Amino acid sequence: MNFKEELEKKTGEAEEIVKRYLPGMEGYQRRVLEAMDYAVSAGGKRLRPLLMRETAALFGETGDSLFCFMAAIEFIHTYSLIHDDLPALDNDDYRRGRKTAHVVYGEDIAVIAGDGLLNYAYETALRAFDKAVTIADYKRTECAMKILGQKAGVYGMVGGQCADLLAEKPETEVTEEMLLFIHKNKTAALIQAAMTIGAVLAGADEKAVERIGQCAENIGVAFQIQDDILDVTGSLEVLGKPVGSDEKNHKLTYVAMHGLEESKRQVETLSGEAVGILRAFPHRNAFLETLVEQLIYREK
Ligand code: IPE
Ligand code: IPE
Ligand code: MG
Ligand code: MG
Ligand code: MG
Repeated sequence: MNFKEELEKKTGEAEEIVKRYLPGMEGYQRRVLEAMDYAVSAGGKRLRPLLMRETAALFGETGDSLFCFMAAIEFIHTYSLIHDDLPALDNDDYRRGRKTAHVVYGEDIAVIAGDGLLNYAYETALRAFDKAVTIADYKRTECAMKILGQKAGVYGMVGGQCADLLAEKPETEVTEEMLLFIHKNKTAALIQAAMTIGAVLAGADEKAVERIGQCAENIGVAFQIQDDILDVTGSLEVLGKPVGSDEKNHKLTYVAMHGLEESKRQVETLSGEAVGILRAFPHRNAFLETLVEQLIYREK
């Protein structure tokens, strides 16, 4: 199987796992459940669950608890997209090739669909405790829960979104430090959560988890720089979301500060360093290494 075929197969598996954990659509809360389902089922690359599973594979076996966390991280990511697209934030009408949740369901339902997905993510991740058998299983699950909570919150993604929103205001004096804070938190934090949770659940030791955290930070920052590049050079048809959103919102992006060429170089450098970290582990995961390399050239 070549890389492309393998990626398709593994993305399909991640898709199936995420959908398995989606709640049903019954009761007076049916409308919010529909909006949650709409946003998750629209697809997307499923990169975070994929990275979680491949990082786990680098360190050994995990039980079904990994699946709970794969679904949970995708639910949190999807909630972050619903809220990110709202008129009060980036005000974008397309996501994952469809109208955004607030366009279809209204802002009121879109806000609570985000809330619903965030909470349901923890309900789903907590189910990993039901699958724990040994004390070691419990400890790993507890550690994974802590990572998920921290990286999704004010010391992670939410914190990054806050700085991202402040940086677009004309009165804010923007700096390189602030730019890096935004990228590390709004985007790299969830990628770090995905990869370190995979490592923890597979029993990696503390040092290895730390190195995976560094590797994931590089991947995440590179991923956001590439996202900023594609906001300038991409198209709605390929990306499934509007281009020119950052300029419209006066966002502080890597491209705005350093230009396209330097941004592309930075994506390559950071990704190269990330692959270097992966190659230094005693066990190798060739698919994961290629995936990180291919993200440099992604067009969506
Ligand atoms: C979009 O993430 C938001 C960013 C952090 C740049 P993805 O590019 O992973 O979006 P999906 O999941 O494929 O839709
Ligand atoms: C958002 O960054 C990252 C999130 C936490 C959702 P962007 O605002 O650049 O993401 P897109 O381009 O809308 O996907
Ligand atoms: Mg945004
Ligand atoms: Mg946005
Ligand atoms: Mg963007």
